[in-house]
Amino acid sequence: MGNKDNLMEKVVSLTKRRGFIYPGSEIYGGLAGTWDYGPVGVELKRNIRNAWWKRFVHERSDMFGLDSAILMNAKTWEASGHVEGFVDPMVDCRDCKSRFREDHLKEGKYGELKEKDGKLVCPNCGKTDMTDPKTFNMMFNTWIGPVEETSNLVYLRPETAQGMFVNFKNVLDTMHPKLPFGIAQDGRVFRNEITPGDFIFRVREFDLMEFEYFIDPKNWKDLFEMWLKEIGAWLDFLGLDAEKLFYHDIPDGERAHYSLRTVDIEYQFPFGMKELCAIAYRTDYDLKKHQEHSKKDLTYFDEKTKSRFLPHVLEPTFGLDRAILATIVQAYREEQLANGDTRIFLKLPHILAPYKVAVFPLVSNKEDIVSKAIEVYKTVKSRFNATWDDIGNIGKRYRRQDEIGTPWCVTIDHQTLEDKTVTVRDRDSMEQERIPISELIGYFDEKLKR
Ligand code: GAP
Repeated sequence: MGNKDNLMEKVVSLTKRRGFIYPGSEIYGGLAGTWDYGPVGVELKRNIRNAWWKRFVHERSDMFGLDSAILMNAKTWEASGHVEGFVDPMVDCRDCKSRFREDHLKEGKYGELKEKDGKLVCPNCGKTDMTDPKTFNMMFNTWIGPVEETSNLVYLRPETAQGMFVNFKNVLDTMHPKLPFGIAQDGRVFRNEITPGDFIFRVREFDLMEFEYFIDPKNWKDLFEMWLKEIGAWLDFLGLDAEKLFYHDIPDGERAHYSLRTVDIEYQFPFGMKELCAIAYRTDYDLKKHQEHSKKDLTYFDEKTKSRFLPHVLEPTFGLDRAILATIVQAYREEQLANGDTRIFLKLPHILAPYKVAVFPLVSNKEDIVSKAIEVYKTVKSRFNATWDDIGNIGKRYRRQDEIGTPWCVTIDHQTLEDKTVTVRDRDSMEQERIPISELIGYFDEKLKR
């Protein structure tokens, strides 16, 4: 494993040079708190997102998918409490005009906290002329239509959850589910973070995958435990080491006022033990608020007891970008080779790897080898996401694919033309086997099952 202190630098550099993640708007000098996923990164992102959907929506019979709009009636955010409460405390330096999140300043996020004569020292200019903390709403807003006035104000959603609450009645009326059941969605959210940082850990635009699991309140404790186990199994699927995870039960007094229990699941990132995902028991707070503000009946009718009530909700929430970062950090390996070289590879779970297989012609100037390799590439690609590489020597190609985390590299050589076999090289062991082309698909299928 790489040196802990510069592991993040190594990960940022690897993800840039191998096409996982680029700085946002880079040719214009960037835009703080934004990152773009490149051709390789987008595959990892989709693999994680699709696996989440498969596990929590397709493989369950109590979950319904949703894809609600990013722009929602502004009343949604008044009802949910975001207009009033989605705020961070911030302080400004009157001298250099820099702005800081007060809690981050005190946690030493901008460097060691310094005070002079009882006053905060600005980490940027060193002066002590800081404003008192003011609250700052983290929602981005914009206007619908040509006129910028309050009646046209809309917010870019800071979470996907509210789309699920406002569609609760639609799902009830169209799908007729019985409690307990969930509504799941994933999608883009926006937060005007005062201090984005730590690569894709804290950004201003990111993807959430979350679900609202509606329950009869008398069952909440057991169902909360059930979801904690499910979350643990999901994090195991991502390849995360259980010893690097910490389940932080937020104590009374520190939780949001409507939550009766919240557990933040933290991961040992190179920059500290930080929140990766969370689960909260939000009672009937959200449905109650939306019922009050919309004046629409959002109750559920229980056939068994012939009673109407507002279901309570358990909310597991997963930041996709944080899941990607944890998965990459966990998979990063450095290995000393016998010849003194260092091999870097991403030991990603096979199922998550951006490409399952890379196909190489041993040489790129022998037509019969290249055309055979293209044939093999097409066969493999019809089944798995595969990539082609004929640049540089084989050693360089292995290095590239190792850094991408491609589990298997297939080389077509002179012997292939004679006996229709290829070499398959394993990312983790670097061992090579000769496999008949006719058995390749079955060979990879079998490996991917494990
Ligand atoms: N609906 C509940 C909700 O949004 P949250 O704790 O505010 O809860 C959920 O956010 C998850 O979103 C977090 O557990 C984290 O994984 C991710 N997240 C939050 N802020 C983020 C940011 N600025 N950049 C990247 N991911 C973020």
